[in-house]
Amino acid sequence: MQIHDSPTPSVFKGADLGQGRGVYISTYGCQMNVNDTERMYSLLEMSNFAPVKTPEEADLIIVNACSIREKPVHKVYSEVGRYKKLREKNPRLKIGVGGCVGQQEKENLIKNQPLIDFVFGTDNIDSLPNLVSQVFSGPGKVIQTKFEHRAPYHVETLVRNPGVSTFVNIAKGCDNFCTFCIVPYTRGREKSRPMSHVVMDVRNLVKRGVKEVTLLGQNVNSYNSEDGADFADLLKKVATDTEIERIRYTTSHPKDFNEKLMHVMADHQDKICEYVHLPFQSGNSEILKRMNRGYTRELYIEKINQMKKIIPNLVLSTDIIVGFPGETEDAFQDTVSLATELEFETIFAFMYSPRPFTKAAQFTDQVEEPVKNERLNRLFEAHEKMAFELVKKYQDRTLNVLVESINEQGKAQGRSTQNKLVYFMGSSDLIGKTVPVRITQAFPSVFRGELQQ
Ligand code: 5AD
Ligand code: SF4
Repeated sequence: MQIHDSPTPSVFKGADLGQGRGVYISTYGCQMNVNDTERMYSLLEMSNFAPVKTPEEADLIIVNACSIREKPVHKVYSEVGRYKKLREKNPRLKIGVGGCVGQQEKENLIKNQPLIDFVFGTDNIDSLPNLVSQVFSGPGKVIQTKFEHRAPYHVETLVRNPGVSTFVNIAKGCDNFCTFCIVPYTRGREKSRPMSHVVMDVRNLVKRGVKEVTLLGQNVNSYNSEDGADFADLLKKVATDTEIERIRYTTSHPKDFNEKLMHVMADHQDKICEYVHLPFQSGNSEILKRMNRGYTRELYIEKINQMKKIIPNLVLSTDIIVGFPGETEDAFQDTVSLATELEFETIFAFMYSPRPFTKAAQFTDQVEEPVKNERLNRLFEAHEKMAFELVKKYQDRTLNVLVESINEQGKAQGRSTQNKLVYFMGSSDLIGKTVPVRITQAFPSVFRGELQQ
């Protein structure tokens, strides 16, 4: 078996590398992964591959898999295993694995599953057309997982049909090394795009009909552009120097969320949504220290209170991990109290899962699975009770909803500036418009309402 870790060639656009072959990409994971898949499709389409809707129609299948939680590698093996029959029917079919799982597992994937023809990492997406053409032209297996540590991060946003709302990457990688997290290993060192490139991207998207952008990075508020701008500067620039109607961003880190950013949000509320996702992970300072998060429970509370003072009508959500090594029942109760007292309208909570390469996976005081499970359920229960009460304030209020889609029965779907999913009856000419909707039913995760004329 010939395996080579070739250097990453430059982006290759426009050549007929694909010869019209069908490509199908299966994606699981975060918004970053969804965005990467869109980039892969765009690059492959430029090289004359034809995106198809099912694996059955494809000559090229790529599994783009996230490895942040659970057992993603097993998922990849079982998915690829299911393609055995397709390979028998179509011997020309090539199968590749990318994303964080590709970065993490490298040649192991090919050794353990011979159906896999190529593996590529998170920093090698731009050379995908060349890599795939190499795969189609030779019998060998191809692996490309080198990080481009020194190369600047200069990539334009590539989306085929951007729709009403789209993502714009502003930074990649992470240098925080939270002890539970695999991202610094799978996405590499943190790098920011120049501010002028981001602004240009947003302007181009506006020309294509986009109304809302979500600025995306593992830790957006440590954004540090080569022209000296920080995240608050970038946000302000996008708000003032482009015609975009709405701006969101994710994800923030509490230690880097400064007052300057709060003021930019408050000063530009006509465009920047008043919604902030600020993961606290644990409500117990001892656990936070072992997580290497860089703040205490008290500092987090202080920051939220300051944000509430500066940003009018602030809406909050957070990420939480339960059952981190060493978490006692008391420490868990600290998490429950923080999740319910700080008025998070939405929480994303997960059981701790030991990840390869990370420090916490080596900690000897791991919490047993049934305990984690039971704590997760209790946390959701406590939060839901609070959230049901909290969202009652939206009842009968009129929210500005940006309409994203409408189904055949005339049911429109959109989001309010508070990031609430709102359903109401409407017509297809409303897509892309921001309309007033009176809320008739408010549940923690979805609202129903009536269009106001
Ligand atoms: N186990 C459980 N949850 C994790 N997250 C990150 N790493 C792990 C892990 N090892 C969660 C964090 C993070 C979110 C994206 O995923 O809460 O904010
Ligand atoms: Fe992972 Fe921490 Fe970086 Fe977030 S800040 S991506 S949790 S290491």
